[in-house]
Amino acid sequence: MISGFAAYGAGASDPVKTVGPNACAECHKQEAEAWKSTHHFKTFREMPRNTKAKEIADRMGVRRIKLESLCLNCHFTVQQKSDKAEPIAGISCESCHSAGQDWIKVHSGFSGKTAQTESKPEKETRWKLADSKGMIRPSTLYRLAKNCYGCHVVPQEDLVNKGGHNAGSAFELVSWSQGEVRHNTWHSKGKDNVLASAARKRMLYLVGLGVELETALRAVGKATVRKAYAFLMAQRADRARKQLDAAAKAAPNIPEIAKMVEFSHSAGLKLNNERALTAAADGVSKQLSDINDKYDGSTMAGLDGLIPGSDKFKGTARKAAAVN
Ligand code: HEC
Ligand code: HEC
Ligand code: HEC
Ligand code: HEC
Repeated sequence: MISGFAAYGAGASDPVKTVGPNACAECHKQEAEAWKSTHHFKTFREMPRNTKAKEIADRMGVRRIKLESLCLNCHFTVQQKSDKAEPIAGISCESCHSAGQDWIKVHSGFSGKTAQTESKPEKETRWKLADSKGMIRPSTLYRLAKNCYGCHVVPQEDLVNKGGHNAGSAFELVSWSQGEVRHNTWHSKGKDNVLASAARKRMLYLVGLGVELETALRAVGKATVRKAYAFLMAQRADRARKQLDAAAKAAPNIPEIAKMVEFSHSAGLKLNNERALTAAADGVSKQLSDINDKYDGSTMAGLDGLIPGSDKFKGTARKAAAVN
């Protein structure tokens, strides 16, 4: 199965199968409007004009930011046109939900019927088929989160040490998904941009922390020199495992959390230790798949005291305008 950024670098979107955000917007108008007021949308125009971007690009030997896959993978959506790969938007629908070509018809087709006449088993089969064709949905939270962190951790030693690029964001999945990025307008039929429920927030928080740990362990594994990148990535991994340790104590009924912490201590956070760190990250990954499949957050009330409140949300969620 396609596994998001593992298959295509950062971001889930395979350029050959990318249909572009306008194709999604034909049906998803509200979600597209919400997207248009985000940094993800604006980076397409703004980043290449930014002085800091030019400095990073110069240090990396990149002459044209919009032609260089080093920057494109994380800042843009790229579509393969007949003879070349062309950046068509910033970070868009398919950067997070995966390239649509193979699943766009399936996911919206109601099994050849209508929303009213499609049976429950037919609906289940439809979503299974869409998932198997690579679609990333709110319910496949682990894969969804992996994409965010694949970009937001910036697991690239040269880009940080030589290019002077930020070593990722101070990212946290509840606060970073429920502010400007929020577009839960579809299932409310555009009436409301729904805040994640308490149970959903627990899942976002826990899976987010686990993916931070997994991604940071892999990132430390790539460290070869004693410079900023190695320190900052080791710091990320260490902070994530401490936070998970607190989560394990707050929700002792979820044994997978303590197992993640245990795996993270099985490899030293040091230079040139890729094999052991990758094995530790794989162990964390297995727990995360289990958490995604077994739980819906309803039994994780213990985590509530750890989850950031709305004062920490990144940006403001767009209000939904009623549409039919
Ligand atoms: C032809 C109309 C149409 C197009 C085009 C379309 N969608 Fe959808 N989308 C739907 C419908 C209908 C549903 C809800 C199906 C249901 O409720 O069972 C949906 C649901 C979704 C969901 C929610 C899935 C879930 O588990 O609840 C996501 C995410 C999504 N679409 C993303 C996209 C993306 C990304 C694109 C572009 C690549 C896209 N859609 C293009 C009609 C469309
Ligand atoms: C691994 C993913 C990744 C790659 C590769 C990457 N960036 Fe970024 N970039 C990010 C993220 C994530 C942020 C936001 C960081 C934050 O939260 O502070 C960012 C932020 C920036 C910013 C500051 C934000 C702004 O737009 O004002 C600039 C400038 C920038 N990147 C330029 C570049 C350039 C130039 C390249 C190519 C040489 C590049 N980036 C490659 C992920 C990446
Ligand atoms: C930065 C990543 C990202 C981008 C870009 C993005 N989405 Fe989403 N999408 C998500 C996440 C995360 C959720 C689930 C949020 C939650 O659980 O609170 C979601 C949920 C959805 C849903 C379900 C909404 C509901 O009412 O439950 C639809 C439909 C959807 N996205 C479509 C789109 C479309 C269309 C675009 C482009 C215009 C888009 N998304 C862009 C990450 C993204
Ligand atoms: C393809 C790479 C990529 C993916 C996937 C991605 N992001 Fe981003 N994100 C970026 C970059 C790059 C920026 C900085 C854009 C800028 O300001 O120039 C950014 C900026 C943001 C911001 C604005 C931060 C600020 O400074 O205010 C938020 C919030 C955010 N991302 C949340 C998310 C969430 C939540 C997800 C997953 C559901 C996600 N991102 C997935 C690359 C990505």
